[in-house]
Amino acid sequence: MSGDPVRFLNAFAQSLAAMALYRVGHPARERALDVAYQQIQDLQGDTARPLFTFLGDEVVFGNIPLRELKAWDWGKRLAEAGIQRLEFEDRVSREDFEGFQEEVLARLTLSAISTEARQMRRSSIRFGAVGLKGEADAATEPLPTATISFSLGEEVDTLRWLHNEVQATGAVPLAEAEAVVRSLAVAMHGGRQVILPLLQLKEFDQYTTTHSMNVAVLSMALAEFLGLAGADVRAFGIAGLLHDIGKIKIPLDVLTKPGRLTDEERALMNEHPVTGARILLDVEADLDLAVVVAYEHHIMINGGGYPVLHYTRDCHQASKLVHVCDVYDALRTRRPYREAWSFDKTLGYLEERSGLEFDPELGGAFVRMMKQWEGQVAVVSDGLTIGAAAAKTGQGGV
Ligand SMILES: [Fe+2]
Ligand SMILES: [Fe+2]
Repeated sequence: MSGDPVRFLNAFAQSLAAMALYRVGHPARERALDVAYQQIQDLQGDTARPLFTFLGDEVVFGNIPLRELKAWDWGKRLAEAGIQRLEFEDRVSREDFEGFQEEVLARLTLSAISTEARQMRRSSIRFGAVGLKGEADAATEPLPTATISFSLGEEVDTLRWLHNEVQATGAVPLAEAEAVVRSLAVAMHGGRQVILPLLQLKEFDQYTTTHSMNVAVLSMALAEFLGLAGADVRAFGIAGLLHDIGKIKIPLDVLTKPGRLTDEERALMNEHPVTGARILLDVEADLDLAVVVAYEHHIMINGGGYPVLHYTRDCHQASKLVHVCDVYDALRTRRPYREAWSFDKTLGYLEERSGLEFDPELGGAFVRMMKQWEGQVAVVSDGLTIGAAAAKTGQGGV
């Protein structure tokens, strides 16, 4: 019988429920476990190492979102309990499978009673044939040096297509934007620890694409670092991905001008937040957050920046968060008129400007996150993952 990821997950959830109700050896418990075990074996008939990612309200099998499971609340519960990823190695034994289910259940129960455990949700976990590798050993192990091997080629192509589409039709293809963000979220949880896949492409005209992807990744990372739930994290990701969408209306020679801009060019450039918010307002779907972020992401907390507000007011949390990520990526990227800033210099600048340009809490959290996750930055360059070691030198280097 051929395997089915949805059937497996349903059987898996049913056996978790049975295990919570019945003691070891009870026929109902054993039966439920047998069914789930049969399903994983069937699934492994087609896919040797099935991989599931739980992103709050969404469940992804490999790279494919399982839409049938939209209303399946276990994905959310698993993600909240710190289980954002399940990967089965080849040939799982019945005993290993039962042990693994017990550990999942323990973790779910723990998270229901302990808020501390909830905060661990950012460390994703690999489940292998030998069972669960938990936070305990994750914490003591050295940071991975080359954790992922993927290219972001498809995401880059999709985003480039999306920019052209907005340029040509004025409409934002939201499904594709969501697909890019979902795919980035899956890439970020491809290991036991969060990974920050940041692009570094050589061609300068790809700047907006590269930058948008990086700001999306950084915004999702920071939202996750702050403990936001999966759906919110991805809304921040969409907002990060589309924050500069207004730039498509700026002539390319101004956008890529290798020197100081004239006053008129500067004025044109500074229109992109308003233009972007207008473009996003026209999208039928609910993009409120992205609209606000597009509008506010250059406004400083001391009232500087642009557009100039008629009266000083606080910006949305998401705008202030994207603002920090935006400046980080911009400084870390080489421009025609200056070299890329180093990791340390950039973080120093963010610290220095916290309270003036940046919200002090968000600026501080960003710096803490980057210091903590520095080893988990994977620099992706022209389709190749350079690996975490390149984080310090990398990003804008080429
Ligand atoms: Fe911008
Ligand atoms: Fe930007």
